[in-house]
Amino acid sequence: MNSTIKDRVFDVVSVRESFPILSKKVNGKTLVYLDSGATAQKPQTVIDAVDNYYRNQNANIHRGVHTLSQEITVIYENARATIQNHLNAKYPHEIIFTSGTTESINLLAASFGKKFLQAGDEIIISAMEHHSNILPWQVVCEEKGAVLKVIPISEKGELLLDEYKKLLSSKTKMVAITHISNTLGTLNPVKQIVELAHEKGIPVLIDGAQAVPHQKVDVQVLDADFYCFSGHKLFGPTGVGILYGKEKWLNELPPYKVGGGTIKMVTFEKTVYADLPLKFEAGTPHIAGGIGLAAAIDYVNSIGLENIQEYEKELLHYATGKLSAISGLKIIGNAKEKASVISFVIEGIHPLDIGTILDKLGIAVRTGHHCTQPLMEFYCIPGTVRASFAFYNTKEEIDLLIAGIEKAIKMLK
Ligand code: ALA
Repeated sequence: MNSTIKDRVFDVVSVRESFPILSKKVNGKTLVYLDSGATAQKPQTVIDAVDNYYRNQNANIHRGVHTLSQEITVIYENARATIQNHLNAKYPHEIIFTSGTTESINLLAASFGKKFLQAGDEIIISAMEHHSNILPWQVVCEEKGAVLKVIPISEKGELLLDEYKKLLSSKTKMVAITHISNTLGTLNPVKQIVELAHEKGIPVLIDGAQAVPHQKVDVQVLDADFYCFSGHKLFGPTGVGILYGKEKWLNELPPYKVGGGTIKMVTFEKTVYADLPLKFEAGTPHIAGGIGLAAAIDYVNSIGLENIQEYEKELLHYATGKLSAISGLKIIGNAKEKASVISFVIEGIHPLDIGTILDKLGIAVRTGHHCTQPLMEFYCIPGTVRASFAFYNTKEEIDLLIAGIEKAIKMLK
């Protein structure tokens, strides 16, 4: 399976060899995995890092004088430093380990809401947010009597920035926006969004769950106040994620979950909480997950995110051209700036039926509303078929997808 552009960017054949699952057969066919937006596959180095932790390093962190505990504490904190460097955060304690993007946003919404939100305040999100960046804000708004405001989008799936500007006011307390839409693939102009919010002194959270696997993120260049993502979409383990926050904000926010590890001193009358980052890391964390995530970042950096981005751009271009040529197929999300995520619908056929037939051919795509029901309502559709590509995919796999869709159309029409 040679890619025609493999020599220019990287050797996709050897990349694929690093991912054991890609040679697996599904329904008698070699797996064509086009669902990396849901969760990405794991390279051998990540699998080895997790395996090695449980085989050779297992102990709890920050809690023991014994050798294994001391050693794993250093390894875990090195993992935090790897993530800090990767995001170009100023300090390691600006990196909070969570269970994933969803928990990161729940943490921020609950903690920020508790301290800073009052009745009549406003939170701005956008029409293309994942439910995980809607619900936590909705809950805290209900609790505090605050109001959720939504930046509308165009038919192409781009944010209407003029509308955003109009929404920003002295009532706005937070802007929470996705970097890349998981359904449309739209790459939002987050730097500009942050600049506009900062002109009014409003902090910004960027949901980077779909961005970090596709491009380099520098939180200082973006000047994001908060940035979050999940390990499993970045080729790392499930159950681990990150909330980055500027030190000044994290210092001001109250703890979200409390318990072991978050304290300096406890009496029955009063508790003094630990400094960052431990203040936000109650309980024994997903130690193997943190170590595995650092291994994933090392792996991605060994390939180079610029190379990944360039290669995926070619895949996106190729797939968009081929899909657009299928009669009755409509791509949902045609933003000028897009990541390698393509949602589509086919006239007269339910997305689930297409997905089921593709699965029989060994092709994994996601179907449904992709946890973005308000977007489905906007486009007046029940759902889409979504093919999301990673740098281990090839043009040959896109050809198999196209052939599979054509077969499905023949069967279902
Ligand atoms: N948020 C993930 C997706 O878009 C699960 O599929």
